[in-house]
Amino acid sequence: MNALQAAFHEHHALQCGFCTPGMLMTATDMLKKYPLKNDDAIREGLSGNLCRCTGYEHIVAAVRAVKAKAAPRI
Ligand code: FES
Repeated sequence: MNALQAAFHEHHALQCGFCTPGMLMTATDMLKKYPLKNDDAIREGLSGNLCRCTGYEHIVAAVRAVKAKAAPRI
């Protein structure tokens, strides 16, 4: 698994998995293109994908975790 897939697993960011491919593709693109400075930015970026199971909290946490690991250290 790549880092985002592993984060989805670690943060329990999926239940039935129906939305997961779209969430992963969208989040991968977001992580490459946008600063995602806060959870609101992550939520807005994912807003085109609907999840009927998770309530999004765990998905946002997974994306946040990958973003934090990729952030430059000062
Ligand atoms: S995990 Fe079931 S729709 Fe998202």
